[in-house]
Amino acid sequence: MSTILSGIQPSGLLHIGNYFGAIRQHVALQEEAGAHFYFIADYHALTSQRDPAKMRELVWETAVTYLACGLDPEKAVLFRQSDVPEVTEIAWLLATVTGMGLLERAHSYKDKVNNNIKPSVGLFTYPILMAADILAYDSTLVPVGKDQVQHVEMAQDMAGYFNGAYGDVFQRPEMRLEKSEAMQKVPGLDGQKMSKSYGNDIWIFEQGKRLKTQCGKIVTDSRPPEEPKDPAELFVFDLLALFLPADELVDWQNKVREGGESAPGYGHLKMRLKDAMEDYFADARARREEYLAHPEKVEAVLQAGAAKARECAQRVRDRALLACGLR
Ligand code: ADP
Ligand code: TRP
Repeated sequence: MSTILSGIQPSGLLHIGNYFGAIRQHVALQEEAGAHFYFIADYHALTSQRDPAKMRELVWETAVTYLACGLDPEKAVLFRQSDVPEVTEIAWLLATVTGMGLLERAHSYKDKVNNNIKPSVGLFTYPILMAADILAYDSTLVPVGKDQVQHVEMAQDMAGYFNGAYGDVFQRPEMRLEKSEAMQKVPGLDGQKMSKSYGNDIWIFEQGKRLKTQCGKIVTDSRPPEEPKDPAELFVFDLLALFLPADELVDWQNKVREGGESAPGYGHLKMRLKDAMEDYFADARARREEYLAHPEKVEAVLQAGAAKARECAQRVRDRALLACGLR
């Protein structure tokens, strides 16, 4: 039986790139047989977020977003990473068998240092905590985006080092990458990969005037509507493809390719995108409103999730302590 686990950092309001690249896949996986653990990686977020009020708000928003987007607490365990302190204990055990060299090779750490971020020890050991997250629940499958592949490989390595030293303690996890390139790299308003750190993102629950303004900012060129164009060169079509029915998408693509009188202008396409996005997330938006009106329901889900997650993490921690002679 598989145990599926993934985590997401509460480092900003979740955007449509996060939705198509991560959340949607997580929600779909809950239908597969096995156990499902999804958590809000608040300990990891501490490596970049130092405003306590903001932290609280973002942890909350991340939980609400998952629930609103369809995560079913009856099928999947949703919890806060920091509600399972055993994870930090397991992280220590893994740290004692992990060489500095492994961590020094981490791309995401090197990228941050190259971008002049002064690294804390926590940032350097980030992959150890992530390995503990994965190994604490005997996870067999970890769905992640491309940027996290190396971290999961490190978790596999660390499980191997520990098991090599102390016997069969940790389950080796496998990873699952989103297959479709379109889902892995949703473009932002400027055509680069959508990311909160580029400021080109659209919040999943954006609507009305603000969404209209944001869609209006999608970068296009100054060619007139009548001029025939290749839709594959216009990234607004990559966004439209996520939200429009296939036949409608083909229709717009044909019109743009042919040009002439009936071809839509960019403004027209952007407004169609705005309406389609609003419709796509309408049910999720309504569920979010319900949770906002009943915050106690969200807290109850997180508490129940933490209890289930802890039970499992305690078992794995005890197994690890026993194996290395600490019990
Ligand atoms: P951000 O780049 O906005 O900081 P994160 O790095 O926190 O986003 O990513 C959280 C999850 O969302 C990861 O699984 C990542 O692969 C996915 N993700 C982020 N941006 C995109 C995007 N533009 N397209 C597809 N998936 C994305
Ligand atoms: N590092 C992941 C990210 O930034 C979040 C994360 C923390 C995670 N622990 C994890 C993902 C364990 C998968 C499994 O997206």
